[in-house]
Amino acid sequence: MRLPLMELNAQSAYIVVGTLLTCHVIYRFVVRRLQARTLPPKYWSWEFIKNFDYLFYTNINPRNWVKFQTNLGPTYRVSNIFNPMSSICTGDPENVHAMLAGRDWGNQFRLNGMGQMFEKGLLTVDGDEWMRSRKMVRPAFQRNNLDDFEVLSQMTEKMIAQIEKEKQVVDVGALLTDAFLNTSMHFILGLDPGKEDDGRPFSVSEFMKLWHEGIMGTGLRLILEHQHWMLPKKRFAIVCQKLHSFIDFAIAKARQNKDAQKSSKSMVYTILPHAASSADARAQLMHTLFANQDTTSTLISNVVQILSTRPAIWTQLRTEVLEQGSHLFTFDNLRNNKVIQNIILEALRHRVIATPIGRRAIRHTILPKGGGIDGQSPLHIPAGTTGLVNLWSLHSDPKVYGADADEFKPERWNHIKPGTNEFLPFGAGGRACLGQEKAVVETAFVLSKLSGRFESVQDMTGEWKPMGGMTIKNSSGYKVAFKSSVEMD
Ligand SMILES: *[C@@H]1O[C@H](CO)[C@@H](O)[C@H](O)[C@H]1NC(C)=O
Ligand SMILES: *[C@@H]1O[C@H](CO)[C@@H](O)[C@H](O)[C@H]1NC(C)=O
Repeated sequence: MRLPLMELNAQSAYIVVGTLLTCHVIYRFVVRRLQARTLPPKYWSWEFIKNFDYLFYTNINPRNWVKFQTNLGPTYRVSNIFNPMSSICTGDPENVHAMLAGRDWGNQFRLNGMGQMFEKGLLTVDGDEWMRSRKMVRPAFQRNNLDDFEVLSQMTEKMIAQIEKEKQVVDVGALLTDAFLNTSMHFILGLDPGKEDDGRPFSVSEFMKLWHEGIMGTGLRLILEHQHWMLPKKRFAIVCQKLHSFIDFAIAKARQNKDAQKSSKSMVYTILPHAASSADARAQLMHTLFANQDTTSTLISNVVQILSTRPAIWTQLRTEVLEQGSHLFTFDNLRNNKVIQNIILEALRHRVIATPIGRRAIRHTILPKGGGIDGQSPLHIPAGTTGLVNLWSLHSDPKVYGADADEFKPERWNHIKPGTNEFLPFGAGGRACLGQEKAVVETAFVLSKLSGRFESVQDMTGEWKPMGGMTIKNSSGYKVAFKSSVEMD
């Protein structure tokens, strides 16, 4: 007689547990629906671990960032079945400011993926450790260090000679990348790129090959984060170790060179007295190489390519440069020349160079906009949410830049005055790019030399297909044809 009773008990236990579970699921569902009502619009990501589909679309074609933002609004979330807000993307000036300048958003999450190659430096740490790195790196960017155009001038002459030799179409992007690699060997590591016999472990071109391989490996690790154990390890470890050995060589050389320690402005010399160890110095130098890589060369390539379809602006620039003569080539004159600066500002606005700046919420925090039914209320952000700043949308806001914001018009800078959070080609807050003055003045220098030398530059395709990566560049380089006045006669 006892058995049926037990069965009944077991049965009702199942029913009770089942009912409770169902209620819980319904409750969670309803709560999430209710919460979602006040969350910003969503981009639905099918791939729920890393949102690869979203990353893929936006990296293959950065214009998708603008498209998604246009369709979804200034602040939208990336949502998947497990997390209604795994990332928050924004082009709203107030939110952008909060993310870039606020203390609730950090970079330390990158250490997991970047650490093996880059170790601890500006781009992978937060708080006091970050402050320490910044203090170490900053002196190299001081004004008196930017006045000296000797290396840049040699590099530009060499490049112009190369362009003249080739006569036909040149890929100005490839030329500039190569040239700026040379100057950063000087500026950051204190090495002469052409002096292959100074005992360096391998050549600069070998370094560059390894560097690109290392960046690929680091990129994958950065995306996979905690799951990066699934990637092959052996080759990556060799690449990192070789790259480190090259930097270590530059450091050892600097430690021995007492004369240069007094006079050299290269970063390796300005860092050494403050570094805790050689490994510490190496990390800072690796970070600077990374931040320096391709940024100035992409900016100049963009300007040249844009002007290759706008002959009137090239002529205006050339006329200005020829009028000013050699007296133009000082820091102040290049920096204060209205014609040149307008062109550079407009290029920085019109073609954003930085891939979306990613941050992660260190703690629960609030963004000023994006919450509530109308998106105008503050938005609660749980710790661990990824933040993405969309500069493309920020830089094409018609309220700030005018109804023709989509066009390239340097003269707009004669009358517009974007607020501090509305024009951010170099980021904002404490993490803003340390090299911005250097990048702008070097761009002005190279552009002035090119336009002074060449009567015109011709577009060879007219197409520009942005592709993500380290910087946003044209997917197949920058082919143009320069014509000098001699050839035109
Ligand atoms: C960069 O340095 C290498 C090695 O010295 C040299 O062959 C190359 O011509 C340089 N490129 C430029 C544009 O200066
Ligand atoms: C940009 O890349 C496209 C291919 O994606 C190519 O057809 C075009 O020639 C490139 N533009 C320039 C200016 O080189």
